[in-house]
Amino acid sequence: MKINVFNIVTFFSIGLFILSCKNNHDNDLAIIEESSVNSASEIESKVNKLLSEMTLEEKIGQMNQYTGFWDVTGPTPTEGNQALKYEHLKKGLVGSMINVTGTENVRAIQKIAVEETRLGIPLIIGFDVVHGFKTLSPIPLAESASWDMEAIELSAKVAAKEAAASGINWTFAPMVDISRDARWGRVMEGAGEDPYLGSKIAYARVKGFQGDDLTSKETIAACAKHFAAYGFAESGKDYNTVDIGTSTLYNVIFPPFIAAKNAGVRTFMNSFNEINGVPATGSAFLQRDILKNQWDFDGFVVSDWGSITEMIAHRQAKDGTQAAEIAANAGSDMDMESHLYVAELANLVQEGKVKESLIDDAVRRILRVKFELGLFEDPYKYCDEAYEKDVVGSKEIHDAVLDVAKKSIVLLKNENGLLPLKKEGQKIALIGALANDKTSPLGNWRIGADDETAVSVLEGMQNYQGNTLFFEKGADFVTGQTVFARELDINTTDKSGFNKAIAAATKADIVVMVLGEHGYQSGEGRSRSELGLPGVQQELLEAVYKANPNIVLVLNNGRPLAITWADEHIPAIVEAWQLGTQSGNAIAQVLYGDYNPSGKLPMTFPRSVGQVPIYYNTKSTGRPNIPSPGEVFWSHYTDISNAPLYAFGHGLSYTTFSYSNLKVNKVSQDKIEVSVSLTNTGTVKGKEVAQLYLRDDYASVTRPVKELKGFELVELNPNESKTITFLLTEKELGFYNNQGEFVVEPGDFTVFVGGSSLAELEAKFELE
Ligand code: BGC
Repeated sequence: MKINVFNIVTFFSIGLFILSCKNNHDNDLAIIEESSVNSASEIESKVNKLLSEMTLEEKIGQMNQYTGFWDVTGPTPTEGNQALKYEHLKKGLVGSMINVTGTENVRAIQKIAVEETRLGIPLIIGFDVVHGFKTLSPIPLAESASWDMEAIELSAKVAAKEAAASGINWTFAPMVDISRDARWGRVMEGAGEDPYLGSKIAYARVKGFQGDDLTSKETIAACAKHFAAYGFAESGKDYNTVDIGTSTLYNVIFPPFIAAKNAGVRTFMNSFNEINGVPATGSAFLQRDILKNQWDFDGFVVSDWGSITEMIAHRQAKDGTQAAEIAANAGSDMDMESHLYVAELANLVQEGKVKESLIDDAVRRILRVKFELGLFEDPYKYCDEAYEKDVVGSKEIHDAVLDVAKKSIVLLKNENGLLPLKKEGQKIALIGALANDKTSPLGNWRIGADDETAVSVLEGMQNYQGNTLFFEKGADFVTGQTVFARELDINTTDKSGFNKAIAAATKADIVVMVLGEHGYQSGEGRSRSELGLPGVQQELLEAVYKANPNIVLVLNNGRPLAITWADEHIPAIVEAWQLGTQSGNAIAQVLYGDYNPSGKLPMTFPRSVGQVPIYYNTKSTGRPNIPSPGEVFWSHYTDISNAPLYAFGHGLSYTTFSYSNLKVNKVSQDKIEVSVSLTNTGTVKGKEVAQLYLRDDYASVTRPVKELKGFELVELNPNESKTITFLLTEKELGFYNNQGEFVVEPGDFTVFVGGSSLAELEAKFELE
């Protein structure tokens, strides 16, 4: 008989579901709840008192969010949309502003809300602090490659500190959308393809932004986005339709959102996509049934930009009035830039189409977060100009972003020990426009940072003076792009620089080529149908290779690339993503061996775009294996292998590691200890991410061929060994069935341990 945890205590079934969600980090949750008991009840009574004093219009105003619309320290707007927004602000019909930054500007706008409106309710000031504010850390996909939760938390912590010092008190991050599709440009913003790793990272990032005390002037409210399934857009095309089953929704998409909730995230953002026929913004199932009821979330939900209006284009709502009605009833608490709540909700309440109690619920949530941030005590607490000057761009922040940048680099390939580079006596040709680019490494979400503020690879390498370094672009990107740039605007067809690059390579001992995507070739609206090197870079690579094959290829990119030719020909390949402000220093330190790379891929790299979506935790299918040589009737392509180019979890080091002695110890039915011995078998100190994968061999709902269920980042000296013990409990052993219930089923399980998802050591155990 299958054991269903819910069948054992059926009368508790829904409660247990919630419990199992909370259990991920129950200790942390307990701490939050305990320490905030008094203040939470005080806040509730303050919220209720304020609510009782508010008119319907003022309540709806709290649900209205505008983007920055005029130079707040300049003359006030007198015409058009801007004047209307300004009027709304003065009447208390705006609850939040976004894209207003800097203490002076935030103070000016807050002053209107606090001093000119009837109730003086402070604004909550939002901004996309996605991977830093002015000083940028690596793009989130890159940071995820560190598998280092402390570094990731620290990166979010310093980002929050810098943003808060500039007047911001709410970030639209972390993006916790799982995605298996490298064509989707927004994979750069997430943690990759895996729900387990994604959940750990979601937790760490929320903790980093919010800390344990939201009233501190160094922390800001976080936002788990985009709820839900935005990363599963069909064919990787941004904003496209999502049509997925219950199993994927519960087992793949929800877990990082649950982790963010358990870390105490105060807001969620809904998403642009429809899911199974219902736009997420208008989905009561997602926002009310799951998030607010089952998960017991008491913060608020903000819509995505204009996503309430977009329900008309989705063909769910026939006009703005109906869109506002559906969104408010579905539990979208705050309207980001659709301007529909402020225009429509009062009438809808009067007509009985939206209950005032639902408005009260939304406003209560918004006010609760404002109180928690301490905005009522001091609306200007984020507006200290002297503090802003001390904090923004401080050494502390630069040190933290450099630290995580180094940890994010993944050594994909290193034949003949080409890396690390020798520090003296070498002639090195540095080739590629990206090597000298001080803007592209900032990535796509650079909106708070100034252009040209990243350390380039050229600058980073110039710090090492024992070698002779000569630089050639070879081929350029069209520079000076803005956030509206399209792929076509960025690539050129100009090959006039090839000859100089070839000449430089010819006279060099070693060639370092920095190729890949420009910062604006990934991100929102940047889906690609090809995953090779954009523009003429592949041709450049092949031309330089003919002149000198001794190439170290440094990739800068915001998504997995299909670089199959490079893998077959180039001896050393370093995945350096877009690493933020300290990019060039991080890359140079890795190339020269001052930092031994330890990153592991958070997303599978395909051999060709036709393999996408490609991910390690696939299902087995009914025909997983070739029956006999030459057979065609099995699950495969006839023109390419099923294997990825680089597997999830892959990443090399300047040393080597070996795994041995895998043991399984079944302590009890829901407590399995798995131990393995890890040895540094190379000649230098290094870090390895030991990874444990689990397969539920047979289950009532088919389970993936393997799933990450544990990992540990271990540092070892040469010849040093360590025994690593992983613990598997109900949380790791179970899964959500197609009724959305968490179950642990008896039967056979297989564990795999190793340095990537190809982990070869395996052992079995059985649950009765
Ligand atoms: C994005 C969100 C972002 C919002 C505000 C939208 O286009 O989808 O992730 O937070 O803009 O900038």
